[in-house]
Amino acid sequence: MSNRTFTMVKPDATSKGYTGAILQQITDAGFTIKAMKWIHLSEKQAGAFYAVHKERPFYGELVAFMSSGPIVAAILEKENAVADFRTLIGATNPAQAAEGTIRKKFASSIGENAVHGSDSDENAAIEGSFFFSGLEIF
Ligand code: RTP
Ligand code: MG
Repeated sequence: MSNRTFTMVKPDATSKGYTGAILQQITDAGFTIKAMKWIHLSEKQAGAFYAVHKERPFYGELVAFMSSGPIVAAILEKENAVADFRTLIGATNPAQAAEGTIRKKFASSIGENAVHGSDSDENAAIEGSFFFSGLEIF
């Protein structure tokens, strides 16, 4: 069990002005910010980040969406970070997300679902290093 996870506030949420409210809910839930940046991914960069989903039918749509506007990328710390963060954000499809979760409150569809959360300790480390060097983590 690791104490770190990786998140992104996705372009649907940044464009609607939800960035502040989402970050507030994350820190209110006990997560500490270890690294953070505001960045607009190119299609190539979004494609590389989501390479694990290359064979999925929604890959093209996902890459286009994730490069459609700026995002916030962050490394978060908390005991049991990966699992607790997935609970905080709720199900991939906001229609199935539990009441009070970030996706229930801020997401509009299964594709445009407001936030990303790593699904394992291993992927949290890989995803965090995709965006941040050791010099940017505090
Ligand atoms: P994430 O990686 O963004 O935290 O989301 P997740 O684990 O809940 O879902 P995952 O299966 O990893 O899918 C990654 C992202 O792809 C988009 N998606 N679209 N149109 C679709 O059926 C569909 N399914 C997934 C979503 O943006 C999802 O978060
Ligand atoms: Mg995922």
